[in-house]
Amino acid sequence: MKIAIGSDHVGLELKPQIIEYVKSLGHSIDDFGAYTNERTDYPIYGKLVAEKVASHEYDCGILICGTGVGISLAANKVSNIRAVVCSEPYSAKLSKQHNDTNILAFGSRVVGPELAKMIVSEWLSAEFIGGRHLRRVDEIRAIETRHDNLFNKVKNSEDSRYSDRGENKMKKMLYV
Ligand code: RB5
Repeated sequence: MKIAIGSDHVGLELKPQIIEYVKSLGHSIDDFGAYTNERTDYPIYGKLVAEKVASHEYDCGILICGTGVGISLAANKVSNIRAVVCSEPYSAKLSKQHNDTNILAFGSRVVGPELAKMIVSEWLSAEFIGGRHLRRVDEIRAIETRHDNLFNKVKNSEDSRYSDRGENKMKKMLYV
């Protein structure tokens, strides 16, 4: 996969270890800053990485700040981004399987390098399982686009697309 990574100054120390680890798993990864210890603002990097993922230039993203909270909040303001903050691998895996998350965030003040690698590994190897989870993700998309009619349509739908594993089919319908 092609992965975008970003951090603020607090996440900077952990970032190179994560980059090396992601490469060792066979993925490519590009760093969108920060590049120095100078104090900076996490929304800059949350937005930047989120836009790279939302535009499909990158398959997914990884974000690091002190807690993972601020940088994921910023990323989640970009349309079509579902960023999750994780401090343990179970939520990371389930967030991909059930919520189709496309950005993983964690905090360098919360997790150490080995736990962070385990979280990354679980998240990268998991896949969205669709089915009933697709309807819920589509409800999130409908909220994001402030499309109340679509929200209700999806919520009440008995469409088989929500019960099979063709998770990408409904996305097309939502974006037209
Ligand atoms: C920076 O001090 C800190 O607030 C930031 O790294 C992050 O933890 C915010 O959520």
